[in-house]
Amino acid sequence: MTPAAIAIVLAGGSGERLGERTPKAFVALGGRPLLVHAALAALACPAIGSIVVAAPEGLEDLAHAMLEGVGAHAVVTGGATRQGSVRAALEVVPPEAEAIVCHDAARPFARPELFTAVLSALQDADGAVPVLPVPDTVKRVRGGIVLGTESREELALAQTPQAFSASALREAHRRAVEAGVDLTDDAAVLEWAGFRVRAIPGDPANFKITTPDDLARAELHAGDLARG
Ligand code: C5P
Repeated sequence: MTPAAIAIVLAGGSGERLGERTPKAFVALGGRPLLVHAALAALACPAIGSIVVAAPEGLEDLAHAMLEGVGAHAVVTGGATRQGSVRAALEVVPPEAEAIVCHDAARPFARPELFTAVLSALQDADGAVPVLPVPDTVKRVRGGIVLGTESREELALAQTPQAFSASALREAHRRAVEAGVDLTDDAAVLEWAGFRVRAIPGDPANFKITTPDDLARAELHAGDLARG
């Protein structure tokens, strides 16, 4: 049994590396904003009843309008960093939610099954993160000089959606902000706070859109999916 959950969809970034005028989550892919792709995937997971979206300041109404008819949602103003956006969203997550899934709007190809899989992995952990193996040899480089080669056996690339027990996620974020620690995903916040995070197999198709090349790859992938 998966716990009753709420999803936080992170759409509060500016997406400068994408080079578009619109913030990344609002850029269209196959005729739909990335935010809507992410919201539809989250809401298609049977355990997730509603979503909270962190939108960039000034674009809250636009986010709300885009999600009209998509499903139950609330919109909050995102923070200066991703971690700040999660904290803002946590403020409106109902206290009765047992589990919280955090998902980046920048990953439009996450399947509903991956949301279910991370939630199921909470049975013996406080958090769960999908990961992929590192295909390349990994170097530690400083100032253009190779300091060494890392063993990639124990390294993994983290994706979202990531699922958490609501109490652990709230506690970890509370401690991180108190300590002035700002990290790039929620699993890292839980790890830092000493909680147990399980890794489950990620999905290579669930790639993050960061650069214009990623967006071009995403258009091709969306075309393939549409053609079946
Ligand atoms: O910049 P990056 O791609 O790592 O951002 C990951 C996700 O976090 C994106 O979906 C972005 O919209 C979101 N984010 C946010 N608030 C910020 C920065 C990023 O919600 N201040």
